[in-house]
Amino acid sequence: MTRVRVRAPGKINLFLGVGSIDGDGYHALSTVFQAVSLYEDVIATPSDDFTLSVSGVDDPSTVPLDDRNLALRAAKVLAAATGHDGGVHLEIRKSVPVAGGMGGGSADAAAALVACNELWRTGLSHDRLHELGARLGADVPFALAGGTAVGTGRGDVLTPALARGRYEWVLITDDEGLSTPAVYRAFDVVRAESGARLADDPLDPFEVPPSFFEALLTGDPEQFAPCLRNQLEAGSFRLRPSLEDTIEAGVAAGALAGIVSGSGPTIALLCADARAADRIAERMRARDCTVRRAYGPVRGAHIVESDA
Ligand code: C5P
Repeated sequence: MTRVRVRAPGKINLFLGVGSIDGDGYHALSTVFQAVSLYEDVIATPSDDFTLSVSGVDDPSTVPLDDRNLALRAAKVLAAATGHDGGVHLEIRKSVPVAGGMGGGSADAAAALVACNELWRTGLSHDRLHELGARLGADVPFALAGGTAVGTGRGDVLTPALARGRYEWVLITDDEGLSTPAVYRAFDVVRAESGARLADDPLDPFEVPPSFFEALLTGDPEQFAPCLRNQLEAGSFRLRPSLEDTIEAGVAAGALAGIVSGSGPTIALLCADARAADRIAERMRARDCTVRRAYGPVRGAHIVESDA
């Protein structure tokens, strides 16, 4: 049977500045994404209907199998856009933490778009897939693009960023995810409460400072580490105060710096090199943390197997 397998990466926001809210309730963002080596694999096979199976998660109930699932929605959006009248079965093999702030659902959607475009031979260009992806979620275009990129608008308007080197990460995951809209709402509350203080913050307004890009070009994690910044983590900390302690513990264990990944609750610890990262991972495991290792940047959604 015809089968297409596509791999798409999770992401860390190396910088995430949050601006004002638009009419649809979305926040203007100024962000820098890095795709990292935790991957979602989506295997597409022909079917009359649109169906889904998921593996790789401890608790299957955390992943919806109906139209709330972004991969299924992606397949339907592509079928509608191209007039394709068949369906697909999507098998999702997850490695990115569910509701972890690493864009796992967006990676599923990106992988599903690329997989169905190949399986159905619908031939949409990368730009058209990007456009459809942006309709599904703000992080989907980046999961298609991969690498290192600046995101503006809702995070979906992408410009590739010049970056050198390889970054070694220790990721601390949390079994209990955080809802992205809830984190943005909590962030709005924190900002409203401390508006005066935030206005004095040198990083407000929320644009990526030029020094960030200079540091990114050095390819040196030690020079880059002080530039890691996630304004949205104020919202994550409000909902889960223990995350601040985890970052502190990571730095005490030897990480150069730590931030919440996206809306969290995954914590991303930047390490000097792979050996340091392995050592820090061990120390965090000894504290009963659930730990994953990853590096970045890596490429965006791509076909790894196809006989279509
Ligand atoms: O686009 P996505 O589905 O990932 O966004 C989930 C939710 O996160 C949105 O409904 C919105 O509440 C919040 N969000 C936001 N501003 C963004 C991206 C997401 O407020 N730029």
